[in-house]
Amino acid sequence: MQLRCFDPNCATTLDLHAPALECPKCGELLEVEVAPNDVDAASLKALWTARRTSRDPRDISGVWRYREFLPAYPAEEIVTLGEGNTPLVRGLRTAEYAGLRDLQFKHLGWNPTGCFKDLGMTAGMTEAKHVGARIVACASTGNTAASLAAYAARAGVAGRVYLPQGQVSLNKLAQALDFGAEVVEVEGSFDDALNTLLAKTNEGIYFLNSINPFRIEGQKTTMFELMDQLNWQAPDYLVVPGGNLGNSAAFAKAFDELLRYGFLTRAPRIVVVQAAGANPFAQMWQSGAATLTPVAEPETIATAIRIGNPRSWKKSLKGVKATGGQILDVTDEEIAEAKAVIGRDGIGCEPASAATLAGLHKLRASGAIDRDASVVAILTGHVLKDTNFIIRTHQKESNAHS
Ligand code: F0G
Repeated sequence: MQLRCFDPNCATTLDLHAPALECPKCGELLEVEVAPNDVDAASLKALWTARRTSRDPRDISGVWRYREFLPAYPAEEIVTLGEGNTPLVRGLRTAEYAGLRDLQFKHLGWNPTGCFKDLGMTAGMTEAKHVGARIVACASTGNTAASLAAYAARAGVAGRVYLPQGQVSLNKLAQALDFGAEVVEVEGSFDDALNTLLAKTNEGIYFLNSINPFRIEGQKTTMFELMDQLNWQAPDYLVVPGGNLGNSAAFAKAFDELLRYGFLTRAPRIVVVQAAGANPFAQMWQSGAATLTPVAEPETIATAIRIGNPRSWKKSLKGVKATGGQILDVTDEEIAEAKAVIGRDGIGCEPASAATLAGLHKLRASGAIDRDASVVAILTGHVLKDTNFIIRTHQKESNAHS
């Protein structure tokens, strides 16, 4: 395995553990080039199933269980909190709301820190530890911060998080504090926080944002686990909220590998849903533009995806195109309504996750998705990630009734 520039025209390669976040030649993002030898898909599927009864911490992790497709580390170096293993939950009221017969949710909010970020963080933090990092840091709208803080604590490494001041849910901030990270508040948006962090290249900091290719490797396994749960039969659609676009980029990479190595014969169409006030990717798709124009002042109630300049858009776009998917946006009102329906289905999620159901509702209303299509929607964060949002919504409702 090695690192490779994501731009196929450049294709520069680097040692797997080289301390680089972007291609030294052209500045494009890097990715881990996975090339396992002698892959026999049928026997690996059987091995991965068998590992579910094992007591080895690597087998218990829903990420490291699929380690044949991950960078290799000695077992004792792996930093894990038993992430992954999240269920598929069938939508009832939500399916009715979307107008779909077959809707399931993969709830990544049921991870150790309540968010999908743990799936990437176990891989990123293991690499950080492997290369001897002393300080690990990220910019974050809150969830990456909470996850970094927890895994840094487990790894015995100092964690530092850069947050847009006043724009992060208190629940997430509280997690970062509880796990002992140093919190740096930056005036402006997530994009400003990320730029502040990325300027600190000379301070011996190991960067753990989702542009870190090892985080993408961990998040990639979400699709290995999902397909395992679906007996390796792809649904028609996979719907995911888009912020910095690391997660959809990771899913795209997963399907590319699963198809290439014969685990699947067909991938689901990847549908990325953004919030209308933070929708540069959706705008690009709708206008047919060749490059992404950032949104200068992103604004949405779904603070997790309040991002104007998503870094992983090229990786994500490749997956959307390769699978025949699409990109759309939904308004804050549509997100709030969909979130309430997910709550009334007994599932619950944070606002950003509800963009998936809002997007499905919109696609069904326009006839873009068939009623009989099979759909898996990714819920990215737990209902308790933004309790203020819930209380505010219900206060408004009770004021309206009094
Ligand atoms: N949903 C939730 C709950 C998130 O926290 C995020 C991103 C996304 C969706 C979007 O995922 O960026 O991979 O497209 N949160 C980041 C953070 C930016 O800092 O916690 P993406």
